[in-house]
Amino acid sequence: MTSDHFKPEIVAFCCHYCAYAAADLAGAMRLEYPTSIKVIELPCTGKLDVVYVLRAFEDGADGVLVAGCLEGDCHYLEGNLNARRRIEYAQKLLEEIGLEGRRVQMINLSSAMGGQFAWSAAELTAEIERLGPNPLRLNGSHEKVSE
Ligand code: FES
Repeated sequence: MTSDHFKPEIVAFCCHYCAYAAADLAGAMRLEYPTSIKVIELPCTGKLDVVYVLRAFEDGADGVLVAGCLEGDCHYLEGNLNARRRIEYAQKLLEEIGLEGRRVQMINLSSAMGGQFAWSAAELTAEIERLGPNPLRLNGSHEKVSE
């Protein structure tokens, strides 16, 4: 049993065509996944800029999940491949500023993969629980920095 009840906050950037629908399906199937996952819909993961990922951490997220279409199925051809390259770059940037790169992960899904979405969300949450809170949070508090 852990000494406190650290509940990671995870931002999930989900492609409208696949992962967003998969997250919906997971809900409709009553599959359990952590309620602390905040889903943000994107028209395609290719629209995700590295800055959005870094800003999520700056705003206090403990982890970021990026979920795009299966390789070869992106509606914008290579958006998901570009996103993967950006995520790898974001992982390097996080390492450079002292955060674990594995706090951000990318997965590829189809809209029918609600179970995979729920599983991936739970896996990343478990990983972040092992890593602990985002050290960028003020005083280790789990409260977001207000503007
Ligand atoms: Fe889904 Fe590009 S349309 S990742």
